[in-house]
Amino acid sequence: MLPLQDKVIFLSGGTEGIGYECAKAYLKAGAQLAIVSNSKESLEFAKKSFDNDDILFLAADVAIFDQVNSAISETLETYGRLDVVHNNAGISNPSKRLDETTEEEWQRLFDVNVKGIYNTTKAALSALKKTKGNILNTGSLVGSIGQEIHAAYSATKGAINALTKSMALDYSYFGIRVNAVAPAGVWTPMLRSWSLDQPNSSSIEDYLNNIHPLGYCPEGDVIADACLFLISDNARFITGCILPVSGGAELGYKRNKPIEHQAQTVEKHTCRS
Ligand SMILES: NC(=O)c1ccc[n+]([C@@H]2O[C@H](COP(=O)([O-])OP(=O)(O)OC[C@H]3O[C@@H](n4cnc5c(N)ncnc54)[C@H](O)[C@@H]3O)[C@@H](O)[C@H]2O)c1
Repeated sequence: MLPLQDKVIFLSGGTEGIGYECAKAYLKAGAQLAIVSNSKESLEFAKKSFDNDDILFLAADVAIFDQVNSAISETLETYGRLDVVHNNAGISNPSKRLDETTEEEWQRLFDVNVKGIYNTTKAALSALKKTKGNILNTGSLVGSIGQEIHAAYSATKGAINALTKSMALDYSYFGIRVNAVAPAGVWTPMLRSWSLDQPNSSSIEDYLNNIHPLGYCPEGDVIADACLFLISDNARFITGCILPVSGGAELGYKRNKPIEHQAQTVEKHTCRS
């Protein structure tokens, strides 16, 4: 039996980057998928790329409750049940200090990254109670350790950490688990766009390799493997966990290379540009 056999998963932001890799892993593990994005272009790309009529592709902005509610309803009409909500959709712009961040930028970050979770929870909770399902949030390491010139984004991810733990406590009464994954850097369209905004963008690949003690900046598959574990019954006694999937980026003081082992690892895992 596959680890997600017949489980119905509502995955926001499953058309690109980390979410796309999660969608691939969940499908392989036997799941039935509803993939949500607010970008028509991105939905079209993913539809073509998966070429699988069994996937439900839904257009919705996670920041807008009515759109989320309709998407959850359509998922329930299609599959008749809901086992997992994976809140993965997120935005990271702007890369700015707090005092430089406009009110609109602050608001949009919180509306998508944090209120998005509020919206899916309000819309999906009764269905999740029936299946004793679970919720997974894609957080970020910066939510606990911070990041320079990315204050508002880091704050949204800190809020996700707090939410994950509080939701885990509240929903434990219904047998619903709530967890989060906390990546450091992962090569996705989001990271590529962030890289271009950095003052030292030409050396950013080296920088991103070096922040991970394991020696390279990964692709989304490493996050997908951890997500698959957390939403599966293999993690049935884990709740309120913020799992770093970070190559050790949060670990204390370290020398900044060159250690032979690191150089070799980087060579093996050359990043996409
Ligand atoms: N890439 C990284 O280095 C990194 C590191 C830590 C955490 N994360 C987190 O991982 C998650 C995915 O990031 P990614 O790098 O794959 O990003 P990405 O930009 O490559 O993909 C984001 C996905 O979310 C969707 N999306 C964006 N806004 C939406 C909205 N309002 N409503 C519905 N869908 C929306 C997009 O269509 C896309 O499918 C985010 O929550 C991000 O904060 C990423």
